[in-house]
Amino acid sequence: MNFLDVDDLTTGELAAVLDRAAAIKADYREDGASDLLGGQTLGMIFEKPSTRTRVSFETGMTQLGGHAVFLGPDDIGLHGREPVKDIARALGRYVDFVMARVYDHADVVELGEYAEVPVINALTDDAHPCQTLADLLTIREHFDDPTVAWVGDGNNVCQSFVLGAAMSGLDLAVATPEGYGVDDGVLERAEGLGTAPATTTDPEVAIADADVVYTDVWVSMGQEDERAEKLDAFEGFQITPELLGDRALMHCLPAHRGEEVTDAVVESDNAIVWDQAENRLHAQKGLLAWLAEQE
Ligand code: CP
Ligand code: NVA
Repeated sequence: MNFLDVDDLTTGELAAVLDRAAAIKADYREDGASDLLGGQTLGMIFEKPSTRTRVSFETGMTQLGGHAVFLGPDDIGLHGREPVKDIARALGRYVDFVMARVYDHADVVELGEYAEVPVINALTDDAHPCQTLADLLTIREHFDDPTVAWVGDGNNVCQSFVLGAAMSGLDLAVATPEGYGVDDGVLERAEGLGTAPATTTDPEVAIADADVVYTDVWVSMGQEDERAEKLDAFEGFQITPELLGDRALMHCLPAHRGEEVTDAVVESDNAIVWDQAENRLHAQKGLLAWLAEQE
């Protein structure tokens, strides 16, 4: 099976992956590396840059006794050298899993359709489900049934988080500027999975009852041409110490200090962003181990 967005899993499967991740994290801290995926290889396709995703997947495979192969834009050329479906079929004959970070979500769908092995979405313009796994793991480590507010762009990270929150019964409110909200289709999927979040264009309304404020960059990779327009539209959405108060801060990183966050909130004790970053490693190991056991 593929993991192209959080709701490719059932609610029970999502809980199982997170439990597996928590167990693998505890085992790693106790005993170090294992041989759970010994002899197995992950092919990693990157059309966009990355720090956390590349290093956590590659390190994760090493810690599970396997190996990862990095394929950057100059190596694989998703739409240049050969069609996506041919890359999928060839890679699927070599590796045990494929992960891909691409622009167009349709490309991971096509990879998933044609590869004989599980395909994992490592971020598209529409979704970032691996981030959501780490976020849910982090939330359950820090809180018991918190209320969360997303403040910022209704982007890929937000959209997968909306689905994960609905599947986890997490109370979520989303504040975005007009015109930058979560896609209606994602809200409908969330509704079908549990509850769609309350949506507003006022950050103060979203955070009123929140224990945690989650934000992400306003200008995502590939949106550089929209920069001036977006900086205008997001005025008033910056997470400052005053807006955050004593709430926890989540951010998938990288953070653009001076835009969606101030330096002070990222550097404050309220920030749990480094736990999120670390949990990418454990959450993805949980996912890989779980996927390896599926038919
Ligand atoms: N959060 C995240 O996906 O980070 P990278 O872009 O550095 O991989
Ligand atoms: N929304 C951001 C997330 C980076 C991890 C982007 O797509 O660039």
